[in-house]
Amino acid sequence: MSTPRLEGKVAIVTGAASGIGEEAVRLFVSHGAFVVAADVQDELGLQLVASIGLERVSYHHCDVSDEKQVEETVNYALSKHGKLDILFSNAGIMGPLTGILDLDMEGFDNTMATNVRGAAATIKHAARAMVGKKIRGSIICTASVSSSMGGTGPHAYTASKHALLGLVRTACSELGVHGIRVNCISPFGIATPLSCRAYNMEPSDVEASISAVANLKGIVLKARHVAEAALFLASDESAYISGHNLAVDGGYTAVSHSYSTI
Ligand SMILES: NC(=O)c1ccc[n+]([C@@H]2O[C@H](COP(=O)([O-])OP(=O)(O)OC[C@H]3O[C@@H](n4cnc5c(N)ncnc54)[C@H](O)[C@@H]3O)[C@@H](O)[C@H]2O)c1
Repeated sequence: MSTPRLEGKVAIVTGAASGIGEEAVRLFVSHGAFVVAADVQDELGLQLVASIGLERVSYHHCDVSDEKQVEETVNYALSKHGKLDILFSNAGIMGPLTGILDLDMEGFDNTMATNVRGAAATIKHAARAMVGKKIRGSIICTASVSSSMGGTGPHAYTASKHALLGLVRTACSELGVHGIRVNCISPFGIATPLSCRAYNMEPSDVEASISAVANLKGIVLKARHVAEAALFLASDESAYISGHNLAVDGGYTAVSHSYSTI
């Protein structure tokens, strides 16, 4: 492997037990970070930690929609490692799939509570920890192609990811003075438990239907590709990048899908 890019850094990853979060935990640790893996799926989270080794990663239960649990998780990272350099705020849910005419309002609120309020609470407490210790940290959120265009996801999900992008930008504007960078990553569709469960499909079928509408052909987007983008934004290689929405979508949001001259 090349030189470790996160040597000695301390990171919290939310939504760490599965999918993109799990890949990010493995990748961050392989690059020298100490990671607190936070999730609500305790059994999966503990299995992940056991498979990596307790000297580099620990699991902490955290429902991001509960601010108290978020604060406890940040305090846990501080008491275990003495500082916090990186927050990967990645926990998210798909929410209701219902159309706008039948919108499930309770499901809408739950989606906002996890995808937006959860990210806001996590940024708040992680940033407090970084400012308090004068750490020039990196905060990364997982948004989606649904953060910048309609029609790529359900209504609550799309609204939540647009709001998340706004949150990233406004947090970036306030935290720059402390040297803290705030960015997000916007992936195209990936066959993780989130998408497979939502559409009740096997991973291979999810990948086939995503690939059929993808702009970039000959490659299937995997959780690992998104984790690589998070590693870049977490590392010093992105030292002057802040307020950016890094599309990991093979160009999907850059091209028109309804009009083509070629
Ligand atoms: N899979 C895709 O197609 C796709 C595309 C773009 C963006 N994303 C985003 O990527 C992120 C990760 O999703 P994934 O695809 O890896 O799905 P996943 O279901 O594999 O992982 C999501 C994790 O978040 C956890 N989680 C859910 N609610 C939580 C809460 N309240 N508190 C703490 N943890 C919670 C889940 O337990 C799960 O482990 C999400 O924010 C999602 O919106 C996914």
